[in-house]
Amino acid sequence: MNAPSLQIVNPAGHLRVVVTKPLPGTHWLDVLIAAGCRVEIATGDEILSGEEIIALIGDHCHAAIGQLTESWNAGLFAALKHAGGRAYSNYAVGYNNVDVPAASACGIPVGNTPGVLTETTAEIAVALTFSAARRIVEADRFMRGGQFKGWLPGLFLGSLFHRKTVGVIGAGRIGEAYARMMVEGHKMNLVYFDPRPNILLEEFIRAYSVFLSTRGEPAVTCRRAESVDGLLEEADVVSLHTLLDAGTRHLLNAERLALMKPDAILINTSRGPVVDEAALVTHCRSHPDFRVGLDVFENEPAMAPGLADLDNVVMVPHIASATRWTREGMASLAACNVAAILQGHPVAAAGDVRPFLAGTPPQAAPSIVNAHELGLA
Ligand code: DGY
Repeated sequence: MNAPSLQIVNPAGHLRVVVTKPLPGTHWLDVLIAAGCRVEIATGDEILSGEEIIALIGDHCHAAIGQLTESWNAGLFAALKHAGGRAYSNYAVGYNNVDVPAASACGIPVGNTPGVLTETTAEIAVALTFSAARRIVEADRFMRGGQFKGWLPGLFLGSLFHRKTVGVIGAGRIGEAYARMMVEGHKMNLVYFDPRPNILLEEFIRAYSVFLSTRGEPAVTCRRAESVDGLLEEADVVSLHTLLDAGTRHLLNAERLALMKPDAILINTSRGPVVDEAALVTHCRSHPDFRVGLDVFENEPAMAPGLADLDNVVMVPHIASATRWTREGMASLAACNVAAILQGHPVAAAGDVRPFLAGTPPQAAPSIVNAHELGLA
């Protein structure tokens, strides 16, 4: 095991905070320095093992900021607790890599970074939707390969979405933003599946429909599906925005893929294991008009055998949140979570996180997922 190389910021700080990867921007460091933290950042690109993270925590550490690529399990939280740790924040909105009950058992609050990924992630889901539907990557390869010999009526025919049906599985913040982009931008009808109705989204689409009618344009519809299966049968494009847990692992398996229209589009910007990737490869091989856009993979960074050979799949390396504003915002929120807990500040009520993104942040932790369990809510 090689010790990761470290960058140390504010060496005189009295609270030691370890950060397992360099983070974009500088506001997050200002927040930690103002809270009296000495910040130790592991500088390499390699994903740290549990053993390496425990070594980084050492025997004296007040808080940590970790990555979604690391398994923050009971062992890591025990090590953090033993070192005097009082706070952890994931540098992500998703926290399926964190054993939250184990953190709670150690009395350690777990932060995440909601509210800054919403539009950024929805926008890449839209980008993947149209890249898949209009075969952008295949066509780009064709051009670069010098294969374009002139305009042809049948060259790279794709799918038109205007006035068709978009299906959204998981209508939380990001699913809702994607749904609105597709409904407003492309006048699509929406069918969504979520255990809880999204009343604001439904109201919005009703009002938008009225607006279209006043202009003499056909209305758009919105319906909450009773089952995932019903949604899959009906939608022309399906975008996954659910969290990953035992109930959503392999939600899209061979049987469910078979329910989809043969020329449907499937987009996944949620978590890779929501789709059975081996089943997806088989389905794409036998349905060449079925198209897929993936930002996430079942066993990242690996791809299922055969996935990379498929022309009907467009892939990007888990970059849905990769805009500078979002990634700097995530860093600010993670730092504010840790700094606020270390200073004994309360947890903020869920809401607008923008006040935390610049200057002196509010004296509160923006998002602690186990606040309730720890009596901090
Ligand atoms: C998250 O924050 O959960 C994303 O997957 C990172 O882009």
